[in-house]
Amino acid sequence: MRRICIRSAAAGDVKTIHDLLAPFAAKSIILERNEDDIFQHLQEFLVAEYDGVTVGAVAMHVYGENLAEIRSLVVDPVYQKHGVGRLLVEGCEQWLAGLGVGQVFALTYVDGFFVRQGYEVVSKESLPHKIWTVCVHCSRFADCDEVAVQKKLSDAVTQPIPIIEVEEE
Ligand SMILES: CC(C)(COP(=O)(O)OP(=O)(O)OC[C@H]1O[C@@H](n2cnc3c(N)ncnc32)[C@H](O)[C@@H]1OP(=O)(O)O)[C@@H](O)C(=O)NCCC(=O)NCCS
Repeated sequence: MRRICIRSAAAGDVKTIHDLLAPFAAKSIILERNEDDIFQHLQEFLVAEYDGVTVGAVAMHVYGENLAEIRSLVVDPVYQKHGVGRLLVEGCEQWLAGLGVGQVFALTYVDGFFVRQGYEVVSKESLPHKIWTVCVHCSRFADCDEVAVQKKLSDAVTQPIPIIEVEEE
């Protein structure tokens, strides 16, 4: 029986995340991210393990109380179509809902994948200007043909955020 686990990324995952992203970045399907960049945003990443093997990754970036982005979503082609991508997106939604963020969006070529998960296609112009600060580094920025998809998180399950309890004498 297969076992898929979604967890926060750790420093030891950085090379694997980079290697998962690189082939898709080379095809301009996602933005390229070097290992330094992944380290500097490590707390934004979740990874997926399939029977103990790290096969997928996703990052989420918070812009404000009512907006966050899902980015750098990839699943190793060998492990695609097994539900890993859906679980990575659900993991982001739960994590972001736990942070109190109200909506999440993605810029994507796989809008059908997101629509299956309750996202609606929105116009790119409806997104705030600040989201384009990363996109300007993309070779396709001038004639971007990605589709914007967005979902409200009010119904998402909230992932519990760990609490550290201290007892003082
Ligand atoms: C998009 C991607 C992450 C999907 O990962 P995955 O593990 O294959 O997806 P899942 O198996 O969880 O699929 C969940 C559902 O979406 C559907 N789906 C998967 N890829 C799809 C696509 N490209 N278009 C439409 N539907 C898709 C599946 O059939 C499945 O449907 P079901 O719930 O009815 O069975 C993966 O194909 C990928 O890494 N693509 C290249 C990188 C990329 O485009 N990333 C997105 C950047 S925003």
